[in-house]
Amino acid sequence: MDLFDFAGVAAGQSRERLAPENLAPEHMAPGAVLLRGRALASDRDLLAGIAAVAAAAPFRHMHTPGGFEMSVAMTSCGEAGWVTDRRGYRYERCDPASGAPWPPMPGAFVALARASAAEAGFPDFAPDACLINRYAPGARMSLHQDKDEQDFSRPIVSVSLGLPCMFQFGGANRSDPVKKYELRHGDVVVWGGPSRLYYHGVLRLKDGEHPLTGGLRYNLTFRGAL
Ligand code: SIN
Ligand code: FE2
Repeated sequence: MDLFDFAGVAAGQSRERLAPENLAPEHMAPGAVLLRGRALASDRDLLAGIAAVAAAAPFRHMHTPGGFEMSVAMTSCGEAGWVTDRRGYRYERCDPASGAPWPPMPGAFVALARASAAEAGFPDFAPDACLINRYAPGARMSLHQDKDEQDFSRPIVSVSLGLPCMFQFGGANRSDPVKKYELRHGDVVVWGGPSRLYYHGVLRLKDGEHPLTGGLRYNLTFRGAL
């Protein structure tokens, strides 16, 4: 924070202009942007929302159709939740662990998802599913496409909280070159339109300590699933 302030003063700029939430969208690919710091203003509400969701639908390590346990712990909220087991990847209206509907999407979640999508050029985004990923050090997510949703005209909005990670964003084919982006607490990535089905993943999370999340990273991904 000190260096950051100093750089601002040295450049004769106000701190406000340099704050990450005031940075212009960073172009990643056609239809894909990185919005730095857009979740900072509501970070505590978002984390309280995660806790409320997890109290009703606890984080769990699901299994891929091939039988491997995922290193990332997951839960969901909204009208539908993303699940995986021997039967495949899909959305379900009820949590298979309890048989009850997924908890509703907290208001702070919806507000941030809508505002971020609009800033990225996708007005009127109305997410019906939010997958919540929890990464402990060592957890990772290999390159994949988000393609279990009904209609790809709706973007994906992805929010990072807690420990930083290295996010990989590639292209339409698994073998396309990937670019790496460090995603930090409060960053939001939106991809849709031409890049809606682009491959992406998260490299193994490194050890660390974050003042709000301790040794963990959370990620919210908002989808139009149904
Ligand atoms: C995902 O692709 O579902 C997760 C992305 C992330 O954790 O940043
Ligand atoms: Fe994904």
